[in-house]
Amino acid sequence: MLKDKNILIGITGGIAAYKICELIRMYKRAEANVKVVCTQNAMNFVTKTTLQSLSQNDVGIEHFNIDDFKIEHIAYTDWADIMVVAPASANTISKIANGIADNLLTSTVCAFRKPIIIVPAMNTGMWENPIIQENVEKLKKLNYTIIDPETGFLACGANGKGRLCDNDLIFDTTDKILNPKLKKKSKIIITAGGTIEDIDPVRYISNYSSGKMGLAIADCAYNQGFEVVLITTKEVEKPYKTIQVKSALDMQQAIDKEFKTANYIVMAAAVADYKVKNKSTQKLKKTSADEITLTLTKNPDILKNLCNKKTKQTIVGFCAESENLEKNALQKIKNKGCDYLVANDISRNDIGFNSDYNEVMIFSKNGNVKKLQKAKKTEIAKSILDTILK
Ligand code: CTP
Repeated sequence: MLKDKNILIGITGGIAAYKICELIRMYKRAEANVKVVCTQNAMNFVTKTTLQSLSQNDVGIEHFNIDDFKIEHIAYTDWADIMVVAPASANTISKIANGIADNLLTSTVCAFRKPIIIVPAMNTGMWENPIIQENVEKLKKLNYTIIDPETGFLACGANGKGRLCDNDLIFDTTDKILNPKLKKKSKIIITAGGTIEDIDPVRYISNYSSGKMGLAIADCAYNQGFEVVLITTKEVEKPYKTIQVKSALDMQQAIDKEFKTANYIVMAAAVADYKVKNKSTQKLKKTSADEITLTLTKNPDILKNLCNKKTKQTIVGFCAESENLEKNALQKIKNKGCDYLVANDISRNDIGFNSDYNEVMIFSKNGNVKKLQKAKKTEIAKSILDTILK
Protein backbone atom coordinates (compact mmCIF):
# COMPACT_ATOMS: atom_id res chain seq x y z
CA MET A 1 0.00 0.00 0.00
CA LEU A 2 3.07 2.25 0.02
CA LYS A 3 3.71 1.50 -3.65
CA ASP A 4 5.10 4.54 -5.49
CA LYS A 5 4.96 6.73 -2.37
CA ASN A 6 7.98 8.99 -1.86
CA ILE A 7 9.40 8.60 1.63
CA LEU A 8 12.18 10.82 2.93
CA ILE A 9 14.07 9.42 5.90
CA GLY A 10 16.09 11.72 8.14
CA ILE A 11 18.76 9.96 10.18
CA THR A 12 20.45 11.66 13.12
CA GLY A 13 23.46 10.61 15.17
CA GLY A 14 22.46 7.77 17.46
CA ILE A 15 23.35 4.10 17.68
CA ALA A 16 19.81 3.15 16.56
CA ALA A 17 20.74 4.57 13.13
CA TYR A 18 21.81 1.07 12.09
CA LYS A 19 18.24 -0.18 12.55
CA ILE A 20 17.04 2.26 9.88
CA CYS A 21 18.87 0.21 7.23
CA GLU A 22 16.22 -2.48 7.71
CA LEU A 23 13.42 0.11 7.68
CA ILE A 24 14.64 1.31 4.27
CA ARG A 25 14.46 -2.29 3.02
CA MET A 26 10.92 -2.63 4.36
CA TYR A 27 9.81 0.48 2.47
CA LYS A 28 11.61 -0.71 -0.68
CA ARG A 29 10.00 -4.15 -0.44
CA ALA A 30 6.65 -2.32 -0.35
CA GLU A 31 7.77 -0.64 -3.61
CA ALA A 32 8.02 2.83 -2.11
CA ASN A 33 10.71 5.28 -3.28
CA VAL A 34 13.13 6.18 -0.53
CA LYS A 35 15.60 9.03 -0.14
CA VAL A 36 17.76 9.64 2.90
CA VAL A 37 19.15 12.79 4.47
CA CYS A 38 21.57 12.50 7.37
CA THR A 39 23.23 14.72 9.89
CA GLN A 40 27.04 14.59 9.97
CA ASN A 41 26.80 12.75 13.31
CA ALA A 42 24.70 9.99 11.75
CA MET A 43 27.74 9.15 9.62
CA ASN A 44 29.47 7.91 12.79
CA PHE A 45 26.94 5.07 12.95
CA VAL A 46 26.07 4.15 9.34
CA THR A 47 27.89 4.65 6.08
CA LYS A 48 26.73 6.67 3.11
CA THR A 49 27.41 3.70 0.83
CA THR A 50 25.12 1.42 2.86
CA LEU A 51 22.28 3.95 2.78
CA GLN A 52 22.80 4.66 -0.92
CA SER A 53 22.80 0.98 -1.82
CA LEU A 54 19.65 0.27 0.20
CA SER A 55 17.68 3.32 -0.91
CA GLN A 56 19.06 3.24 -4.47
CA ASN A 57 19.37 7.00 -4.25
CA ASP A 58 22.05 9.49 -3.41
CA VAL A 59 22.20 10.39 0.29
CA GLY A 60 22.09 14.04 1.35
CA ILE A 61 24.37 15.27 4.10
CA GLU A 62 25.89 18.58 3.07
CA HIS A 63 23.73 21.64 3.10
CA PHE A 64 24.56 23.26 -0.19
CA ASN A 65 24.55 20.64 -2.90
CA ILE A 66 22.69 22.31 -5.67
CA ASP A 67 21.34 19.76 -8.07
CA ASP A 68 19.31 20.62 -11.16
CA PHE A 69 19.26 24.28 -10.05
CA LYS A 70 17.04 23.41 -7.10
CA ILE A 71 18.13 24.13 -3.56
CA GLU A 72 18.58 20.67 -2.10
CA HIS A 73 16.33 20.85 0.96
CA ILE A 74 13.57 22.42 -1.11
CA ALA A 75 13.94 19.69 -3.73
CA TYR A 76 13.42 17.11 -0.97
CA THR A 77 10.30 18.84 0.34
CA ASP A 78 8.83 18.92 -3.17
CA TRP A 79 9.63 15.27 -3.81
CA ALA A 80 8.56 13.57 -0.57
CA ASP A 81 5.03 12.61 0.48
CA ILE A 82 6.15 12.11 4.07
CA MET A 83 9.28 12.56 6.15
CA VAL A 84 10.37 10.13 8.85
CA VAL A 85 13.08 11.33 11.24
CA ALA A 86 14.49 8.18 12.82
CA PRO A 87 16.32 7.90 15.06
CA ALA A 88 15.63 11.43 16.23
CA SER A 89 18.22 12.54 18.77
CA ALA A 90 17.51 14.91 21.66
CA ASN A 91 19.59 17.52 19.85
CA THR A 92 17.64 17.32 16.56
CA ILE A 93 14.26 17.18 18.34
CA SER A 94 15.13 20.35 20.23
CA LYS A 95 16.31 22.09 17.08
CA ILE A 96 13.13 21.18 15.21
CA ALA A 97 10.96 22.31 18.11
CA ASN A 98 12.69 25.67 18.08
CA GLY A 99 12.79 26.24 14.34
CA ILE A 100 16.55 25.88 14.08
CA ALA A 101 17.68 24.98 10.58
CA ASP A 102 21.44 24.62 10.72
CA ASN A 103 21.99 21.50 8.62
CA LEU A 104 20.37 19.81 5.64
CA LEU A 105 18.10 17.61 7.77
CA THR A 106 16.78 20.36 10.05
CA SER A 107 16.42 22.78 7.10
CA THR A 108 14.38 20.18 5.24
CA VAL A 109 12.14 19.60 8.27
CA CYS A 110 11.72 23.35 8.72
CA ALA A 111 10.50 23.77 5.14
CA PHE A 112 8.42 20.56 5.04
CA ARG A 113 4.65 21.08 4.85
CA LYS A 114 3.56 17.46 4.61
CA PRO A 115 3.31 14.86 7.43
CA ILE A 116 6.40 14.32 9.56
CA ILE A 117 6.95 11.33 11.82
CA ILE A 118 9.55 11.73 14.54
CA VAL A 119 10.92 8.61 16.18
CA PRO A 120 13.07 9.49 19.19
CA ALA A 121 15.80 7.20 20.50
CA MET A 122 18.18 8.23 23.24
CA ASN A 123 19.42 7.52 26.73
CA THR A 124 16.70 7.42 29.45
CA GLY A 125 18.09 10.47 31.25
CA MET A 126 17.95 12.52 28.07
CA TRP A 127 14.42 11.31 27.23
CA GLU A 128 13.17 12.14 30.72
CA ASN A 129 14.84 15.55 30.78
CA PRO A 130 11.95 18.03 31.19
CA ILE A 131 13.40 20.26 28.47
CA ILE A 132 13.27 17.40 25.95
CA GLN A 133 9.80 16.40 27.15
CA GLU A 134 8.63 19.97 26.71
CA ASN A 135 10.02 20.04 23.17
CA VAL A 136 8.35 16.71 22.36
CA GLU A 137 5.02 17.99 23.71
CA LYS A 138 5.40 21.14 21.63
CA LEU A 139 5.92 19.05 18.49
CA LYS A 140 2.90 16.87 19.30
CA LYS A 141 0.75 19.99 19.66
CA LEU A 142 2.04 21.17 16.27
CA ASN A 143 0.76 17.92 14.70
CA TYR A 144 4.05 16.10 14.29
CA THR A 145 3.51 12.37 14.80
CA ILE A 146 5.80 11.24 17.60
CA ILE A 147 6.33 7.52 18.15
CA ASP A 148 7.46 7.22 21.73
CA PRO A 149 10.56 5.15 22.46
CA GLU A 150 10.28 1.73 24.05
CA THR A 151 11.53 0.55 27.39
CA GLY A 152 14.31 -2.00 27.31
CA PHE A 153 18.03 -2.60 27.15
CA LEU A 154 19.85 0.46 25.79
CA ALA A 155 23.18 0.72 24.01
CA CYS A 156 24.62 2.64 26.98
CA GLY A 157 24.11 -0.50 29.10
CA ALA A 158 21.16 0.86 31.05
CA ASN A 159 17.67 -0.53 31.11
CA GLY A 160 14.99 2.10 30.66
CA LYS A 161 12.89 4.11 28.26
CA GLY A 162 14.65 5.42 25.19
CA ARG A 163 15.01 2.51 22.76
CA LEU A 164 13.90 3.09 19.18
CA CYS A 165 10.45 1.57 18.65
CA ASP A 166 10.00 -1.41 16.34
CA ASN A 167 10.46 -0.78 12.61
CA ASP A 168 7.06 -2.43 12.09
CA LEU A 169 5.42 0.35 14.05
CA ILE A 170 7.23 3.04 12.02
CA PHE A 171 6.25 1.27 8.80
CA ASP A 172 2.60 0.88 9.79
CA THR A 173 2.37 4.46 11.04
CA THR A 174 3.68 5.66 7.67
CA ASP A 175 1.09 3.49 5.94
CA LYS A 176 -1.69 4.72 8.20
CA ILE A 177 -0.84 8.38 7.52
CA LEU A 178 -0.48 7.95 3.75
CA ASN A 179 -3.53 5.69 3.37
CA PRO A 180 -5.95 6.98 6.01
CA LYS A 181 -9.11 5.68 4.33
CA LEU A 182 -7.82 2.16 3.87
CA LYS A 183 -7.63 1.51 7.59
CA LYS A 184 -11.16 1.54 8.86
CA LYS A 185 -11.49 1.35 12.60
CA SER A 186 -12.49 -2.30 12.63
CA LYS A 187 -12.54 -4.65 15.58
CA ILE A 188 -10.45 -7.79 15.30
CA ILE A 189 -10.32 -10.71 17.73
CA ILE A 190 -7.20 -12.86 17.63
CA THR A 191 -6.68 -16.02 19.62
CA ALA A 192 -3.22 -17.34 20.40
CA GLY A 193 -1.38 -20.09 22.24
CA GLY A 194 -2.22 -23.66 23.14
CA THR A 195 -5.18 -24.24 25.44
CA ILE A 196 -4.52 -25.91 28.79
CA GLU A 197 -6.83 -28.72 29.89
CA ASP A 198 -6.48 -29.60 33.56
CA ILE A 199 -6.21 -33.18 34.75
CA ASP A 200 -6.02 -32.21 38.41
CA PRO A 201 -4.71 -29.11 40.26
CA VAL A 202 -1.10 -29.89 39.32
CA ARG A 203 -1.24 -31.61 35.92
CA TYR A 204 -2.59 -30.68 32.53
CA ILE A 205 -2.72 -31.55 28.83
CA SER A 206 -1.55 -28.93 26.36
CA ASN A 207 0.49 -28.55 23.17
CA TYR A 208 3.66 -26.86 21.89
CA SER A 209 2.02 -23.72 20.51
CA SER A 210 4.07 -20.66 21.54
CA GLY A 211 1.37 -18.13 20.66
CA LYS A 212 3.94 -16.15 18.61
CA MET A 213 2.00 -16.20 15.34
CA GLY A 214 -1.22 -14.90 16.94
CA LEU A 215 0.73 -12.29 18.86
CA ALA A 216 2.44 -11.08 15.67
CA ILE A 217 -0.96 -10.69 13.98
CA ALA A 218 -2.34 -8.82 17.00
CA ASP A 219 0.66 -6.43 17.09
CA CYS A 220 0.41 -5.85 13.36
CA ALA A 221 -3.35 -5.20 13.50
CA TYR A 222 -2.86 -2.79 16.40
CA ASN A 223 -0.15 -0.90 14.50
CA GLN A 224 -2.53 -0.64 11.56
CA GLY A 225 -5.21 1.02 13.68
CA PHE A 226 -7.53 -1.91 14.42
CA GLU A 227 -9.34 -2.22 17.73
CA VAL A 228 -7.61 -5.41 18.87
CA VAL A 229 -8.79 -8.02 21.36
CA LEU A 230 -6.16 -10.69 21.92
CA ILE A 231 -7.42 -13.82 23.67
CA THR A 232 -4.39 -15.85 24.62
CA THR A 233 -3.23 -18.60 26.93
CA LYS A 234 0.11 -16.79 27.40
CA GLU A 235 0.82 -13.92 29.75
CA VAL A 236 1.46 -10.74 27.77
CA GLU A 237 1.46 -7.03 28.42
CA LYS A 238 0.24 -5.01 25.46
CA PRO A 239 -1.18 -1.57 24.79
CA TYR A 240 -4.38 -3.21 23.46
CA LYS A 241 -7.02 -5.37 25.16
CA THR A 242 -5.75 -8.82 26.11
CA ILE A 243 -7.69 -11.55 27.86
CA GLN A 244 -5.75 -14.45 29.34
CA VAL A 245 -7.56 -17.77 29.27
CA LYS A 246 -6.67 -21.35 30.03
CA SER A 247 -8.93 -23.99 28.56
CA ALA A 248 -10.84 -24.24 25.29
CA LEU A 249 -14.07 -23.58 27.18
CA ASP A 250 -12.60 -20.39 28.73
CA MET A 251 -11.49 -19.32 25.27
CA GLN A 252 -14.92 -19.92 23.80
CA GLN A 253 -16.56 -17.90 26.59
CA ALA A 254 -14.17 -14.99 26.12
CA ILE A 255 -14.76 -14.98 22.35
CA ASP A 256 -18.53 -15.13 22.77
CA LYS A 257 -18.45 -11.91 24.81
CA GLU A 258 -16.57 -10.06 22.05
CA PHE A 259 -17.85 -11.71 18.88
CA LYS A 260 -21.01 -9.73 18.12
CA THR A 261 -19.24 -6.42 17.64
CA ALA A 262 -16.18 -7.86 15.85
CA ASN A 263 -15.46 -7.47 12.14
CA TYR A 264 -12.65 -10.01 11.94
CA ILE A 265 -11.68 -13.05 13.96
CA VAL A 266 -8.42 -14.91 13.54
CA MET A 267 -8.28 -18.28 15.31
CA ALA A 268 -4.52 -18.76 15.53
CA ALA A 269 -4.80 -20.64 18.85
CA ALA A 270 -4.07 -24.34 19.04
CA VAL A 271 -7.29 -25.43 20.71
CA ALA A 272 -7.33 -28.84 22.35
CA ASP A 273 -9.86 -31.09 20.66
CA TYR A 274 -10.43 -33.00 23.90
CA LYS A 275 -10.53 -32.19 27.59
CA VAL A 276 -10.32 -34.48 30.58
CA LYS A 277 -13.62 -35.99 31.59
CA ASN A 278 -14.22 -35.57 35.32
CA LYS A 279 -11.07 -33.60 36.09
CA SER A 280 -10.11 -34.04 39.69
CA THR A 281 -10.35 -31.18 42.15
CA GLN A 282 -7.72 -32.88 44.31
CA LYS A 283 -4.26 -34.06 43.26
CA LEU A 284 -4.53 -37.61 41.92
CA LYS A 285 -2.52 -40.02 44.06
CA LYS A 286 -0.27 -42.74 42.75
CA THR A 287 -1.85 -46.16 43.11
CA SER A 288 -0.46 -49.68 42.91
CA ALA A 289 -1.71 -49.98 39.30
CA ASP A 290 0.94 -49.96 36.54
CA GLU A 291 -1.41 -48.33 34.08
CA ILE A 292 -4.18 -45.82 34.49
CA THR A 293 -6.70 -44.57 31.98
CA LEU A 294 -7.60 -40.97 31.43
CA THR A 295 -10.93 -40.50 29.75
CA LEU A 296 -11.16 -37.53 27.41
CA THR A 297 -14.27 -35.87 26.15
CA LYS A 298 -14.70 -33.59 23.17
CA ASN A 299 -14.24 -29.82 23.40
CA PRO A 300 -16.49 -27.62 21.29
CA ASP A 301 -15.08 -26.74 17.87
CA ILE A 302 -14.92 -22.99 18.50
CA LEU A 303 -14.08 -22.05 14.92
CA LYS A 304 -16.85 -24.14 13.41
CA ASN A 305 -19.41 -22.77 15.86
CA LEU A 306 -18.37 -19.19 15.07
CA CYS A 307 -18.69 -19.83 11.33
CA ASN A 308 -22.19 -21.22 11.88
CA LYS A 309 -23.38 -18.15 13.75
CA LYS A 310 -21.47 -15.41 11.98
CA THR A 311 -23.21 -12.28 10.72
CA LYS A 312 -20.82 -9.69 9.29
CA GLN A 313 -17.53 -11.21 10.46
CA THR A 314 -14.65 -12.36 8.27
CA ILE A 315 -13.38 -15.52 9.95
CA VAL A 316 -9.86 -16.88 9.57
CA GLY A 317 -8.89 -20.33 10.79
CA PHE A 318 -5.46 -21.84 11.13
CA CYS A 319 -4.53 -25.37 10.30
CA ALA A 320 -1.57 -27.24 11.68
CA GLU A 321 -0.71 -30.37 9.72
CA SER A 322 2.16 -32.81 9.90
CA GLU A 323 1.33 -34.43 6.52
CA ASN A 324 -0.77 -33.83 3.38
CA LEU A 325 -0.95 -30.11 4.08
CA GLU A 326 -2.90 -29.06 1.00
CA LYS A 327 -5.36 -31.93 0.99
CA ASN A 328 -6.16 -31.55 4.69
CA ALA A 329 -6.38 -27.76 4.44
CA LEU A 330 -8.90 -27.95 1.60
CA GLN A 331 -11.01 -30.39 3.59
CA LYS A 332 -10.72 -28.27 6.73
CA ILE A 333 -11.79 -24.96 5.17
CA LYS A 334 -14.89 -26.68 3.78
CA ASN A 335 -15.66 -28.49 7.00
CA LYS A 336 -15.22 -25.44 9.25
CA GLY A 337 -16.87 -22.98 6.86
CA CYS A 338 -14.36 -20.18 7.42
CA ASP A 339 -13.47 -17.44 4.93
CA TYR A 340 -9.72 -18.10 5.03
CA LEU A 341 -7.54 -20.87 6.36
CA VAL A 342 -3.86 -20.36 7.05
CA ALA A 343 -2.09 -23.70 6.79
CA ASN A 344 1.33 -24.53 8.11
CA ASP A 345 3.43 -27.64 8.15
CA ILE A 346 4.33 -28.52 11.73
CA SER A 347 6.61 -31.39 10.74
CA ARG A 348 9.35 -28.86 9.90
CA ASN A 349 11.37 -27.66 12.86
CA ASP A 350 12.70 -24.51 11.14
CA ILE A 351 9.20 -22.96 11.11
CA GLY A 352 5.97 -23.04 13.11
CA PHE A 353 5.84 -24.03 16.78
CA ASN A 354 8.16 -21.94 18.92
CA SER A 355 10.04 -20.56 15.92
CA ASP A 356 10.12 -16.87 14.97
CA TYR A 357 9.63 -17.96 11.36
CA ASN A 358 6.78 -19.47 9.44
CA GLU A 359 5.90 -20.51 5.91
CA VAL A 360 2.22 -20.78 5.18
CA MET A 361 -0.40 -21.23 2.51
CA ILE A 362 -3.53 -19.10 2.72
CA PHE A 363 -6.63 -20.80 1.33
CA SER A 364 -9.75 -18.76 0.70
CA LYS A 365 -13.29 -20.11 0.53
CA ASN A 366 -13.55 -19.15 -3.13
CA GLY A 367 -10.71 -21.48 -4.02
CA ASN A 368 -7.76 -19.07 -4.15
CA VAL A 369 -4.49 -20.23 -2.68
CA LYS A 370 -1.58 -17.95 -1.80
CA LYS A 371 1.78 -19.35 -0.79
CA LEU A 372 3.92 -17.20 1.49
CA GLN A 373 7.63 -18.02 1.46
CA LYS A 374 9.48 -18.61 4.72
CA ALA A 375 9.67 -15.28 6.57
CA LYS A 376 9.57 -13.84 10.07
CA LYS A 377 6.20 -14.29 11.74
CA THR A 378 5.89 -10.48 11.85
CA GLU A 379 6.12 -10.40 8.02
CA ILE A 380 3.74 -13.34 7.63
CA ALA A 381 1.30 -11.55 9.95
CA LYS A 382 1.34 -8.51 7.67
CA SER A 383 0.64 -10.63 4.57
CA ILE A 384 -2.21 -12.46 6.32
CA LEU A 385 -3.82 -9.15 7.26
CA ASP A 386 -3.30 -7.75 3.75
CA THR A 387 -4.98 -10.85 2.30
CA ILE A 388 -8.03 -10.81 4.55
CA LEU A 389 -8.48 -7.04 4.16
CA LYS A 390 -8.71 -7.40 0.41
N1 CTP B 1 -10.13 -25.06 16.49
C1 CTP B 1 -11.18 -24.65 17.28
N2 CTP B 1 -11.71 -25.49 18.21
C2 CTP B 1 -11.23 -26.73 18.37
C3 CTP B 1 -10.14 -27.17 17.56
C4 CTP B 1 -9.61 -26.30 16.65
O1 CTP B 1 -11.63 -23.52 17.13
N3 CTP B 1 -11.75 -27.52 19.27
C5 CTP B 1 -9.61 -24.15 15.47
C6 CTP B 1 -8.16 -23.77 15.62
O2 CTP B 1 -8.00 -22.58 16.36
C7 CTP B 1 -7.74 -23.56 14.16
C8 CTP B 1 -8.62 -24.52 13.39
O3 CTP B 1 -9.72 -24.83 14.24
O4 CTP B 1 -8.03 -22.25 13.73
C9 CTP B 1 -7.95 -25.79 12.97
O5 CTP B 1 -7.29 -26.40 14.05
P1 CTP B 1 -6.51 -27.78 13.85
O6 CTP B 1 -5.96 -28.19 15.17
O7 CTP B 1 -5.58 -27.66 12.70
O8 CTP B 1 -7.68 -28.73 13.37
P2 CTP B 1 -8.75 -29.53 14.12
O9 CTP B 1 -10.09 -28.96 13.81
O10 CTP B 1 -8.42 -29.61 15.57
O11 CTP B 1 -8.63 -30.95 13.43
P3 CTP B 1 -7.39 -32.00 13.51
O12 CTP B 1 -6.80 -31.82 14.89
O13 CTP B 1 -8.06 -33.29 13.34
O14 CTP B 1 -6.45 -31.66 12.41
